[in-house]
Amino acid sequence: MTRKPLVAGNWKMNKTTAEATDLAQQLSYRVDQAYEGVDILVCPPFTDLRSVYVTLDFDKSRIAMGAQNVYFEESGAYTGEISPVMLKEIGCSYCIVGHSERRGLFNETNDDINHKVRALQSHGITPLLCVGESLQIRQQRNALEFISDELRACLLGNPVAAADDLVVAYEPIWAIGTGHTATPEQAQDVCGQIREDLANIYSPEIAEQVRILYGGSMNEGNAALFAACPDIDGGLIGGASLDANKFMPIVDCFR
Ligand code: 13P
Repeated sequence: MTRKPLVAGNWKMNKTTAEATDLAQQLSYRVDQAYEGVDILVCPPFTDLRSVYVTLDFDKSRIAMGAQNVYFEESGAYTGEISPVMLKEIGCSYCIVGHSERRGLFNETNDDINHKVRALQSHGITPLLCVGESLQIRQQRNALEFISDELRACLLGNPVAAADDLVVAYEPIWAIGTGHTATPEQAQDVCGQIREDLANIYSPEIAEQVRILYGGSMNEGNAALFAACPDIDGGLIGGASLDANKFMPIVDCFR
């Protein structure tokens, strides 16, 4: 089967509401029927979700919206947290989980992420699960084993029955925001192995359906190289997603 590519922008902690609305408008204006072959996703900060949703909805845009994090409980005394119920209501169809910045800066564990994946799935929100190794692990030549372990721990007991139940993003930590991308060969090696792992965890049929993205300093100059890799089905873009003139040429490489 052919998987529909997905290009996602992780805006991280950038864009005020006015700036986010402006960027959503610019993207929505450019995404016409010529983009039917690719899914496009933006993941703004929580405070921008409402205005970005209204902007995209008003334009009947094909661009989907996601969040960058979630807590796994539905409601209650969890000061500062946001639940999957809230994300669903505000119009999120995806949510990033397990980003290395959340793991590294906010001490998220595989176990936390496992709960988040389940909570999202049970509310019909597609988890965009990030995995990736540090430079030290890559230099020790343990990257493939590390990523397999991370993937299994985050997915343990979480069923995937259809393509929309999961997206995986391979984001080597040493490539994020550094300008040093993985080579297409390195990225393909890992993404190919993620697909094999998914075949073992679920089934070969499910592994063929789940989209696997590469993320880490992707830009308009290198995106085509990743798009040509058989197991890379799109990109998770940080810095270059903050400017429509930089994001759209990346989308163009995958459509
Ligand atoms: P950059 O594209 O800025 O390297 O960020 C990648 C990323 O972390 C997306 O989630």
